[in-house]
Amino acid sequence: MNKLLIALLGSLAVAAGVQAADLEAGKAAFEKHTCASCHGADAKSPILPEYPILAGQHADYLAHALTAYQRGQAGAPASANIRKNAVMGAMASQLSATEITNISAWLSTLPTPLQVHE
Ligand code: HEC
Repeated sequence: MNKLLIALLGSLAVAAGVQAADLEAGKAAFEKHTCASCHGADAKSPILPEYPILAGQHADYLAHALTAYQRGQAGAPASANIRKNAVMGAMASQLSATEITNISAWLSTLPTPLQVHE
């Protein structure tokens, strides 16, 4: 029964176009789009202290943020799912959905000073 369920879920994931992230492609896309020029090559040494640390952040949070910048840049009205930022809107609008998946997954694997406080 469990095997049947797993096989069914697996084929659903394929049908839905869900794909595993490619970490090397994520690193390459981060370099190609010059994200490091502000966030640092290690994604935890930004050029200004108020810029966010991306290294070690949750992949789903990062992907959500990047798509929220895309929606904001595309002119969507302000809402909880929209981020309006001139710099990041311009940067995020250059990214494909696959690049967002891969960059976010790669960033989440990097060593980080971020931590959860108890
Ligand atoms: C010119 C400087 C600059 C460049 C280049 C840049 N960023 Fe950013 N990034 C920022 C700033 C500033 C913010 C904070 C914006 C805000 O207040 O929403 C930010 C925010 C983010 C966030 C949200 C983080 C969070 O904790 O919510 C992500 C994700 C992100 N950047 C990823 C990228 C990626 C990926 C690239 C390359 C495609 C990139 N950035 C290029 C300056 C930059």
